[in-house]
Amino acid sequence: MMYSIAKAEQSLQAKRGDLNLRWYPRYHLAARAGWMNDPNGLVWFDGWYHAFYQHHPYSTQWGPMHWGHARSKDLVRWEHLPVALAPEGPEDKDGCFSGSAVVDGDTLALIYTGHKFHGDPDDEANLYQVQCLATSRDGVHFTRQGTIVDTPPGLHHFRDPKVWREGERWYMVVGARDGETGQVRVYRSDDLREWQDMGVLAVAEKDMGYMWECPDFFTLNGKRVLMFSPQGLAAEGFKNRNLFQSGYLLGEWQPGQPFVREGEFVEMDSGHDFYAPQSFLTPDGRRIVIGWLDMWESPFPEQQDGWAGMLSLPRELMLSADNRLQMRPAREVESLRGAWFPWPVSTLNNQQIVQVESCDAMEVILQWDCANSSAEQYGIRLGDGFRLYVDAQMQRLVLERYYPQYGLCGTRSVALNLNDTLSLRLFVDSSSVEAFVNEGEACLSSRIYPDEGARELTMFAWTGTASLIEAGAWQLE
Ligand code: FRU
Repeated sequence: MMYSIAKAEQSLQAKRGDLNLRWYPRYHLAARAGWMNDPNGLVWFDGWYHAFYQHHPYSTQWGPMHWGHARSKDLVRWEHLPVALAPEGPEDKDGCFSGSAVVDGDTLALIYTGHKFHGDPDDEANLYQVQCLATSRDGVHFTRQGTIVDTPPGLHHFRDPKVWREGERWYMVVGARDGETGQVRVYRSDDLREWQDMGVLAVAEKDMGYMWECPDFFTLNGKRVLMFSPQGLAAEGFKNRNLFQSGYLLGEWQPGQPFVREGEFVEMDSGHDFYAPQSFLTPDGRRIVIGWLDMWESPFPEQQDGWAGMLSLPRELMLSADNRLQMRPAREVESLRGAWFPWPVSTLNNQQIVQVESCDAMEVILQWDCANSSAEQYGIRLGDGFRLYVDAQMQRLVLERYYPQYGLCGTRSVALNLNDTLSLRLFVDSSSVEAFVNEGEACLSSRIYPDEGARELTMFAWTGTASLIEAGAWQLE
């Protein structure tokens, strides 16, 4: 099949009306129909935030990648725009893979990976990935400019360019696989077209993965942050439980110098579903990150509804005093708040209380006084499938989902200090939850699939008491 933007739009128009919206997000970005994965090209241009994304407009399964496109004035109310890139070839004939966007004077430039097989696509030896450029003046229609960086000799997996401006130049990091070792390569340019190879920025040390996807490299509080999504890490206790991870390394770097890393790789989100995050700067200088709120090879029950995949809330990145990356919902998210419902409860004593009959778009605020709670388990439950609770014996905050009908059962958790208070901001949407812990100390994000009519929100405390300092919920518009 020959792909084009016009055909993609036709397919989307035809499919859009057939969606079952029971799990379609009320306030997160998802494709109009079909498949979505990584956020791409996040950028502020000409008065709008733009979000592009990996998109298959013809099917709810991953396939020949297009770039979907939406824009927003406030990072939370998105307007769909026509598909921006289709794999029209030859340099991207098998897919327009992930990449980034920069503003170059009055031009919006997309830098993305052209994915192509020279011969039989079942043979990895035929795979080539190159970096490509497309430009636009109006931010809606893009002109393809072709290949700007060819596959380095000996490599096949070489993708996900992230471009930024520093001093008088453009820089680009690209994720790659050299044999069984992941790496990030770095390039520099004066004009976004001619690129000079500056070598390898970072490589996977022992057990750090066979491929590093979606690298991003930026400065936060004077530290360099290398954020990326490694493939091939082994699960270890409570860590690295998902098929693939996303996280960061901190360090020091100056153009032309090696990247000197400090410390270990740290995962950014401890839930089931957060991958391929990308960052960008707001006009007022905040570093915001958005991720794909899903995980490769996980079941996607919404495929039966005509769509698949969604993006996370925009999250502001901060570096804590002890040099840990923290994420909090971007302040724009508060503009979704409608009515506030305080919950008149201060102590739960071996009991459960229904707080909301049907919860589908809410921000729940909870502050537990852990030091003055004796219960073994206390927290909140949505229907019968989702719980977020303190397990006092384990001294952990646990996110549990139980959807055996879809093959999605299991827990994720983070360590807690029970001598302290625990503050939670929990964002519930039709098929997702994002829990921000203690103002960004941790974050747990997972997809959820409640049955219709089974969205009661219940607080509970078992075997003892649990005290609350604050409890309530915002209805989100
Ligand atoms: C990450 C990723 C990228 C690639 C894209 C393909 O989720 O595998 O490395 O560019 O998805 O859709």
